[in-house]
Amino acid sequence: SGPATISPTGAPTGADRARAAQSGAHLTDAQGVRRPDTDHSLKAGPRGPVLLQDHHLREKVMHFDHERIPERVVHARGAAAHGVFQSYGTAASVTKAAFLAEGAETPVFVRFSTVLGSRGSADTVRDTRGFATKFYTEEGVFDLVGNNIPVFFIQDAIKFPDVIHAGKPHPDREIPQAQSAHDTFWDFVTLHTEATHHTLWNMSDRGIPRSYRTMEGFGVHTFRLVAADGGTTLVKFHWKPKLGVHSLVWEEAQIAAGVDPDYHRRDLADAIEAGAHPQWELGIQTFPDTPDQTFEGIDLLDPTNLVPEELAPVQPIGLLTLNRNPSNFFAETEQVAFHVGHLVPGIDITDDPLLAGRLFSYLDTQITRLGGPNFPQLPINRPHAPVNDMLRDGMHQTAVHRGVAPYRPNSLDGGCPFTAGADMGAYVETPVLVPEATKVREAPESFADHYGQARRFWLSMTPVERDHIIGAYTFELGKCWEQAIKERALQVLAHIDPELCAGVAEGLGLPAPEPTEPLADVEPSPALSQLGRTWPTD
Ligand code: HEM
Repeated sequence: SGPATISPTGAPTGADRARAAQSGAHLTDAQGVRRPDTDHSLKAGPRGPVLLQDHHLREKVMHFDHERIPERVVHARGAAAHGVFQSYGTAASVTKAAFLAEGAETPVFVRFSTVLGSRGSADTVRDTRGFATKFYTEEGVFDLVGNNIPVFFIQDAIKFPDVIHAGKPHPDREIPQAQSAHDTFWDFVTLHTEATHHTLWNMSDRGIPRSYRTMEGFGVHTFRLVAADGGTTLVKFHWKPKLGVHSLVWEEAQIAAGVDPDYHRRDLADAIEAGAHPQWELGIQTFPDTPDQTFEGIDLLDPTNLVPEELAPVQPIGLLTLNRNPSNFFAETEQVAFHVGHLVPGIDITDDPLLAGRLFSYLDTQITRLGGPNFPQLPINRPHAPVNDMLRDGMHQTAVHRGVAPYRPNSLDGGCPFTAGADMGAYVETPVLVPEATKVREAPESFADHYGQARRFWLSMTPVERDHIIGAYTFELGKCWEQAIKERALQVLAHIDPELCAGVAEGLGLPAPEPTEPLADVEPSPALSQLGRTWPTD
C-alpha cells in the first residue's frame, strides 16, 4: 500500500504535548519568539497611545477573538470520557467485526449530552440524553450514536429540522432555555402523533436520569450485522448500565438544575477520578433478516418502535468501562465528531428513513462546526487504524502529504495497486435486494400505528412511575399558553390510556376526552419499567 499519510495513533506526540501545555521556561508567541512581558501593550510613553505595531498584542487578542466555535445544532451540552471496550466474543457468529471477536479490546471515547439546551444549559432538565460512542477499532472507526430512549420522535429525517425548531426555545424570547414546557413543542408532538411514544418516555422518569452512569443507551435504528460467511442478521444495540437504571424525581431535578447546573458532568468526572469507573454491557437483540424486515408484526424500519425484551432478549456481547477523564474539554469533548455512517466491516445499515437522513446530516454539520473538511485529522477523531485516503488539501489541513500521485492505482508512488483480494478486510456494502418500487413521497402503512407502543409502555409502568408520568404531563402542559394545544394533548393521551388521560385532565382542570378509535390491544413489557426490570442480573 502507499504511504500512511496521517499518524496512526490518536495520542498526541511528545512534541504536541509540550506545545499544548502551559509549561516551559519562557513565554513565546505563536511563532516561537520569546516574549518578556504579556501584561503591557506597547505604547508611546507610559500614558500615551497604544501602538498598532505591537504584534504580540494583536496576535494575542486576535486569537482570543476566535476561540469560540459554533456549538452543535443539537446535543450542544455534553460531557465525555475515555475508556475501553472488551468484547465477550458472543456476537462473533453473527458479525465479522474484528472488535467484536472474543477477547478484543478497543479504546473508546463516549460523549453524553442533552438534546435541546445550549452549551451552557443545565444538566438535569427533562430531555432525551445522547449516548455516543466512538470505537477506535483496528479496522477503522465505528460510531454508535445513540440515545437513552430506544425510540425517536419522527419516522423520517425530513421532519428533523421541524421537530428541533419546535423543541428549541421560542424564536421571539429565546425561552425556555432547556425545558420542553412550551407551546411549539406540544403543538408539534400533538400534530405529529408519531411522536407520542418518545414523548411518553420523556415524561417518564427516563427524562430525568439520576446520572449518566445510570442510563441505558440505545442505537434506536435497526442495523444489519454481516457474518464472515456473508450471512446477515438484523440487530438493535443496547447499553445496560452495571449500576442499574435510576432517575431523579422532578423536584430533585429542578433543585439540582439551580444549585448545580453541572450535576451530571461533575458526577461523571468525579466518579472516574475516584476510581469508580462506570460500566455498561453492550447487548444486542437479533432478528432474522427477512425480506419484510418485521419481527412479531413490528416494523423494524420504524424508529418509533422498539421490540420488547420479552420477545427478543438482549444478549450481552461486551463490556464498556470509562476510566479516564478528558484532559482538555475543547480538544476532546467539543471537537469530537460522531457519525452514524462511520461503520466497520460486519456492521451495515438498513433502510430506516430516519437513519438515511442522519447519514447526510452529521458529516454536513461538522463541516461548519469544525471549520472545513479536515476534522477527521483532529486528535480525538483520528482513527487508530492506518489512513491512506487520497483526500488532499482543504481548510485546516495539517498533514504534510508525500508523493505526487494522490489517486489509485498509481505507478509513480508505488502505492495502492489493484490486486487480487484487495477487498480482504475492506468495507463492502451488503448486496441487499432493493424491491421493485415506484418513486413516492409517502410513509408505509406499517408506520401508521402511533399509539400501540405508547400504550404498552404505560401498561408496563409501576404505580409510582405512572404517578410521575401524570405529574410530568400536568406540569409541562400546564405551562402551555394555548388552550387548544392542551386539549389536543389530552386527545392524544386518551388514545394511550383513560387513567393517564383522566389524571392529566384533572390536573389541568379540563374534561377528559374519549378516544376516537379503540385502544390498542397490547401486553405489558415489565422490562420497560425501571422498577420492575430485572437488569442488572449480577
Ligand atoms: C447530534 C443521536 C436523529 C442530526 C447527535 C448526538 C447524538 C445524536 C447522541 C450528539 C453527538 C455528540 O455527542 O457529539 C441521535 C439519535 C437519533 C438522531 C439517537 C435518532 C435515532 C437525528 C436526525 C438528524 C440528526 C434525524 C438529522 C436529520 C444531528 C446533528 C447533530 C446530532 C446535526 C450535531 C452533530 C455535531 O455537531 O457533531 N445526535 N440523533 N440527528 N444529530 Fe442526531
